[in-house]
Amino acid sequence: MSKPHNLTWHDSSIKKEDRQKQNNHSSFVLWFTGLSGSGKSTIANALAKELYDRNIRNYVLDGDNIRNGLNRDLSFSDEDRTENIRRISEVSKLFVDNGTVVLTAFISPFIQDREKAKAIVSEEEFIEIFVSCPIEECEKRDPKGLYDKARKGEIPDFTGIDSPYEEPVSSALTIHTNEQSVTESVEVILNYLKNRKLI
Ligand code: PPS
Repeated sequence: MSKPHNLTWHDSSIKKEDRQKQNNHSSFVLWFTGLSGSGKSTIANALAKELYDRNIRNYVLDGDNIRNGLNRDLSFSDEDRTENIRRISEVSKLFVDNGTVVLTAFISPFIQDREKAKAIVSEEEFIEIFVSCPIEECEKRDPKGLYDKARKGEIPDFTGIDSPYEEPVSSALTIHTNEQSVTESVEVILNYLKNRKLI
């Protein structure tokens, strides 16, 4: 993508640090990645509630929701998935600048796109969480009936079936949703954040 021309960056009079100080907590991105049906949204939303109850300002950005609005022009081709993740990364960066903890729940199947997301947000403020679940289990859960449709050839480019998912090699955390309950998974993430003194 080419660089825009004839633009001048305007610095905000209120800095990110001011907002973080006012909020009484730091801001960062928890980037959940995993197959459809692995539990990304469920865990992100359960964690969001725990953070909210601790007065930590947060916001969940979710694949289905964002693709209904901001990214409704994008398909599930490799190129459009890349653009999907790029836009989400830029939006996440704005939220972080606003002092908000962002929880993103996107399949984000490509390592390179997640690396770019990390670079856009910044390495220190980006925490990748791999929501790991065998595809057989995701397919058994099939909460939206999408695997069934994909197997029948009714959904092209379905992740894990005829579109790839590249597993993370260096996530901060891996959650095994076929072995851990939602409550246990949320606890693991909360402990991680406490240990890093992020909350
Ligand atoms: S991506 O790969 O990060 O751009 O995808 P994402 O924006 O997270 O959107 C995934 C949700 O879209 C629905 N859906 C599909 N997923 C994968 N492949 C195909 N072809 C597809 N078509 C529709 C599905 O509900 C995904 O939601 P989750 O929550 O992951 O199940």
